[in-house]
Amino acid sequence: MRKPIVAGNWKMHKTVAEAEELVMMLQKDIEKISSIESVFCVPFTSLFKVSSMLQNSSIGVGVQNIHWEKQGAFTGEISPLMVKEFAKYAIIGHSERRAYFGETDTTVNIRVIAALTNDIVPIMCVGETLYENQKRMTLDVITRQMKIGLQNIGNEFAEKIVIAYEPVWAIGTGLACDPVTANDIIFHAIRTPLKNIFGEKVSQTVRVQYGGSVNGSNARDYFSQPEIDGALVGGASLKPDFIEIIKAAAK
Ligand code: 13P
Repeated sequence: MRKPIVAGNWKMHKTVAEAEELVMMLQKDIEKISSIESVFCVPFTSLFKVSSMLQNSSIGVGVQNIHWEKQGAFTGEISPLMVKEFAKYAIIGHSERRAYFGETDTTVNIRVIAALTNDIVPIMCVGETLYENQKRMTLDVITRQMKIGLQNIGNEFAEKIVIAYEPVWAIGTGLACDPVTANDIIFHAIRTPLKNIFGEKVSQTVRVQYGGSVNGSNARDYFSQPEIDGALVGGASLKPDFIEIIKAAAK
């Protein structure tokens, strides 16, 4: 049985004071639900504050990107060594980073390796754009993202990886992907490559989240799908609705 994992991606939202307020609003209710893993992926500026607030909490802390080197002349970047003092998870290869910040399958891959070798759980994002979806390229695109994103990784690390399937056209649009379709895409373009790369055992152990317009009302439809082990949540993770998503995952 894979333990469900629901992560909130706060993106570029919340000052430190606002982050503190949000954690205070959500923390107690989320901590009551221990059967799933819940994570707040916060902006770097709030990392120190949020991680101190959640030091003795069941809620995990994550970031939204990491550099692949431990240190060096990389102005403006944050290394896995710096992150691991505060956070256990890192979102890697989010479509917004791929679209706006030049992230490629190859840079995703070296960031995933950097996370794993520094004891950080990578949440590697894959997903097709609207154009790719309309051109029926979905399975090919995701299979390629999986293959390159997960190259040169040993089986001893692979089970820790979390994959987030986020169709780009479903992010922040309110147009959530149909749960049965998402399940089918995950089976063919995520579980199957996982099996081809790492073998049956790893493919059945790695957790796969769905992301894209998940909210308190539709969450249960995703979690009832056999291949979906949680959610990566944007907008709704900044609201009390996030608790409803976590409750749905626990059922
Ligand atoms: P929304 O939940 O706002 O659609 O965002 C999804 C997302 O990008 C999570 O990483």
